[in-house]
Amino acid sequence: MSQETILREIYDAANRANPYPLWAQLRQTPVCWQEDGPDERGTYVVSTYREIEALLHDPRISSDLRNCAQTGGRPRTTMDPYRFINLDPPEHDRLRRLAMCHFGPPERSEYLEQLRPEMLRIVTMLLDQVRGQRQIDFVERFAYPLPVTVICRILGVPREDEPQFHVWAEAIVANASGSSKEQRRQLEQAQSDLNQYMAELVERHRELPGDDMLSRMATDTGPEGRMADSYLVATAALLLVAGHETTVNLLGNGMLTLLRHPTMFDRLRDAPDLIPATVEELLRYEPPVQFLVSRTTLDEIALAGTTIPKGVRVTLALAAGNRDPARFPDPDRFDPERRDNEHLGFGSGIHICFGAPLARIETQIALTELVRRLEKPRLVVDPPPYRPSPSLRGPEHLLIKVDGVA
Ligand code: HEM
Repeated sequence: MSQETILREIYDAANRANPYPLWAQLRQTPVCWQEDGPDERGTYVVSTYREIEALLHDPRISSDLRNCAQTGGRPRTTMDPYRFINLDPPEHDRLRRLAMCHFGPPERSEYLEQLRPEMLRIVTMLLDQVRGQRQIDFVERFAYPLPVTVICRILGVPREDEPQFHVWAEAIVANASGSSKEQRRQLEQAQSDLNQYMAELVERHRELPGDDMLSRMATDTGPEGRMADSYLVATAALLLVAGHETTVNLLGNGMLTLLRHPTMFDRLRDAPDLIPATVEELLRYEPPVQFLVSRTTLDEIALAGTTIPKGVRVTLALAAGNRDPARFPDPDRFDPERRDNEHLGFGSGIHICFGAPLARIETQIALTELVRRLEKPRLVVDPPPYRPSPSLRGPEHLLIKVDGVA
């Protein structure tokens, strides 16, 4: 395999269970042109910690693909220009602040803290539902329903509509980093269906507001005003998808990792204080977002001996950076007691994950209860089957056997 075709191997489902040797190979050339990439075009891939971190803080890197000469200045989908994840300052910052004021900033997330008892109640309910079973599909019964239920509650999306938007959310995730025109078409269709659903929901919340984020975004007018409807609908759709299609993988990858390190699973039962650090180590060791595809250069950028031209697509390999031996000693070792664990699991810079405090609280509560209540859990199939996406990576199913659920 040539150095310029490694990304093709990473996209290949056959390598989904363990892409880390491929990431290690890419790191040998920290900034490397790849023939294949998203949308049937090449991309530069940046794979070392220092360089990824530098670009995430570099104003010459844009999240708006309308700046990409390679794609003829077209956004990836017609919805992209309405979602702050795909925009640059000042528009990005304004929209992020408008959403953030209804969600709670990371440093003062009283709103999320208030939701703790409800999250614990949902975790308890999900575990009660599998009591008496000896074999469980952990993804189907726990890792997926937990974040969906929580984000639906926060946004004010009826939980019973889940079968409807599940199909669109899955299609969005499966095609988000897709490499073909057909995948882009499917992405566009799913985003448009989800947006239409959200637009109707926003209208209903405006007429009959409740105690939820959609109602507040649709009715409150803060000092900076209110989001225009097209942005509001796109933001709500972004939060719904981001809110459950990522945490499911942290929980799935997390359970898999812990069951591959059974002494650690037992240790957490006796030392629950280690759980927050374990969640951080899981975000480093098995990051649910393996790489970011929607970046482009606004100028020529010289980095690690390579000059990336202006207007080209850049892929940031967070998973490779997280296992960079120049940054993390013994990086392929899962070590919840690792010090100085500033991983890239939630990104960095102005686009750093908006939902990180929620994902952290949810996963910490989940792990606390899982180690307490699952009796002798063990893997049935290892490696498990994976979901199709190479960038939002996690098991599709995770069969576990237990002696019981306390
Ligand atoms: C951004 C990861 C959970 C909402 C990001 C980014 C990453 C990430 C890597 C940076 C994207 C970029 O730089 O282009 C994760 C992981 C999660 C998680 C690993 C779970 C374990 C959530 C949740 C929500 C959420 C629960 C919603 C409540 C967002 C949003 C952005 C974002 C809206 C865009 C932020 C911006 O552009 O300013 N996430 N995320 N995420 N995340 Fe998350």
